[in-house]
Amino acid sequence: MSISTEERRIIQDVLDLSRRKTTQMFPQMMENPVARYNDPKQLEQEINILFRNFPIIIAHASDLAQPGDFLTHDDTGVPILVSRTQTGKVKAFLNVCRHRGARIEDRPCGNARTFSCPYHAWTYGLDGALRGMPHPSGFEDADRETLGLVELPCYEHFGMIWVVPSVQDKEIDMTSWVGPFEEYLGGLDLGAHHVFQKWALHRKMSWRLALEGFQETYHFCSAHRHTACAGYLDNQSVHLNFNPHVRHAVPLPKVLELQDQDPQTWEYRPYFMDQNYLFPANFVQVMTDHVYVHTIIPTGPGTCVFQCMMLIPEEPKTEKAKQYWQKNYDLIRVVFNEDFEIGEGIQKGLSTGANQHFVFGKYECGLHLGQKSIDDALAGKIVA
Ligand code: FES
Ligand SMILES: [Fe+2]
Repeated sequence: MSISTEERRIIQDVLDLSRRKTTQMFPQMMENPVARYNDPKQLEQEINILFRNFPIIIAHASDLAQPGDFLTHDDTGVPILVSRTQTGKVKAFLNVCRHRGARIEDRPCGNARTFSCPYHAWTYGLDGALRGMPHPSGFEDADRETLGLVELPCYEHFGMIWVVPSVQDKEIDMTSWVGPFEEYLGGLDLGAHHVFQKWALHRKMSWRLALEGFQETYHFCSAHRHTACAGYLDNQSVHLNFNPHVRHAVPLPKVLELQDQDPQTWEYRPYFMDQNYLFPANFVQVMTDHVYVHTIIPTGPGTCVFQCMMLIPEEPKTEKAKQYWQKNYDLIRVVFNEDFEIGEGIQKGLSTGANQHFVFGKYECGLHLGQKSIDDALAGKIVA
């Protein structure tokens, strides 16, 4: 496995920081107002900008493997219908009939030749075009060309399906949007991975609190004392600012062995867990031999949904392999739950007035960078 210049630098930084018994630090602490976690107006602005104008991962490419495969997605507050057309392209639409607005497809997923509205049976192709209607003479003056399903920007990138949940007049160039992640995450061939598990958790916490659980490792040896703590160097991680995204590299303890090895023989992946933040709400969490892809979406003030898939290199062929991945899955569910229990506790305490703001320490670089990206996007300074 080849190692990139960037990964070589991360290893060098970790070895250097460990030798000096310190960790990566932000130049200053920061006070983050509590209103950012519980103010409904703030949330409305975040939804209208972050969750309407930027690509959100909603599925793995294999969820729509065949022409005619479709899925529906509602958690952004926008009813979305995604289908793979006969030509193999993935398209997303508003799941809303152009006649009088009924919800076209109610099933979570399936395979279809066409979509037929349950109200008066207007029928649409997989490409969204209006195909027909019963008793068409009542609509003979209508311009059918303009009555196809309304299309949303949809991209297949890194083996994932990404949707922008509002109508846009421009295309996003996904390669330039993901920036420095292109080579690294593109090289993982995630589209060829097998989805071992897929799950969604509705939690009573601000989406921001859920997000922050993945942006620092300062909490590992307290919140995950009996789980993740032993797996990583304590409070040692390196954040690379890919504005507005962040690569967050968390070293395993055995990374220290590398200081005695010839840098020319260094490998990266066996020694790190990367919690890669793809703005505004997607994470591609690269473990040493598998990957979690998660997206956190606000569902209301103080509530969110965490959607996650566990990707493994290939479908397990033996019982032993199945058990190995199941053990990983069981553990990550415990670890994530440890984060979310704490997040829900924080949410409950927000309205007490105990805090006017939270303090981001110098170690918690990912919190500083993540908040800056959000602020910049809300101020119109970041566009996809
Ligand atoms: S609302 Fe869909 S066919 Fe009438
Ligand atoms: Fe955590």
